[in-house]
Amino acid sequence: MASPKDILRKSLKMVHGCPMIYAFANNWEEVEQFRSRPDDIVIVTYPQTGTTWVSEIVDMVLNDGDVEKSKRDFITAKVPMLEMAVPGLRTSGIEQLEKNPSPRLVKTHLPIDLLPKSFWENNCKMIYMARNAKDVAVSYYHFDLMNNLHPPPVTWEKYLENFMAGNVAYGSWFNHVKSWWKKTEEHPILFLHYEDMKENPKQEIKKIATFLEKNLNDEILDKIVHHTSFGMMKDNPLVNYTHIPNTVMDHSKSPFMRKGIAGDWKNHFTVAQNEKFDAIYGKEMSGSTMKFRMDF
Ligand code: PPS
Repeated sequence: MASPKDILRKSLKMVHGCPMIYAFANNWEEVEQFRSRPDDIVIVTYPQTGTTWVSEIVDMVLNDGDVEKSKRDFITAKVPMLEMAVPGLRTSGIEQLEKNPSPRLVKTHLPIDLLPKSFWENNCKMIYMARNAKDVAVSYYHFDLMNNLHPPPVTWEKYLENFMAGNVAYGSWFNHVKSWWKKTEEHPILFLHYEDMKENPKQEIKKIATFLEKNLNDEILDKIVHHTSFGMMKDNPLVNYTHIPNTVMDHSKSPFMRKGIAGDWKNHFTVAQNEKFDAIYGKEMSGSTMKFRMDF
């Protein structure tokens, strides 16, 4: 059995050209061979995009906004992360998925080319949420500080360089969002934005309900908005990740539920960093019809 020193704070390991969390990379054959079920619902995001938020929302939508049902287990059990494998410390995502009843909710951060083929073969529904790149970089930097599965932390300056170059777990943010966005042309993918969810959660939750063929009335939608607000989720031990052993996630370094806002990048980027980022962003995103909101 692996000991923490074998997997914690290790360098990323390449998986088919994508930098991957070391502990997860060792389980890759199992991930590739994963057998989906046709009614699986896949929640896909680049890390630190609000995956936990949308996961709790989708779970509540499927359960008609029943708050008691939402308390039946931890978010990591209700919506397991497909590629998550931390031998000796946690049940893997795949082990948990195999136990879950249908329709299963599957969380993943995988770039499109790494998603197991079975999900495409079964034409599974997918919900992709995106968040503006600058806020993702800030949030991901803080996540790296507290998540010991990631490589040893570096300064914000260095982290931003790594992020812009795609030298972080799951690789380039640009490639991730562009390729998933393109895929909406041919596959049932509901594409959402964190910023829209912040601005009008009820409207976005309604979109999710419609996509999942659930007809929820106003009262239920309001209940879901309330239960999944940042304040409620921050204080909810079933979703705020405080149940993860602190050898893996150390909330004293930075809480998982950190700020939950749009536009925090303005508190972190210097003018020079912002100019450089905008130049790279312009180049990377040219030719894509994707539009993000960064001015709040
Ligand atoms: S992970 O580990 O990559 O799956 O993390 P993920 O859940 O995608 O992202 C964590 C960020 O999402 C924020 N968050 C929320 N924002 C608004 N409302 C709600 N309910 C909510 N829940 C989580 C969380 O605070 C992290 O963002 P930052 O900017 O760091 O606060």
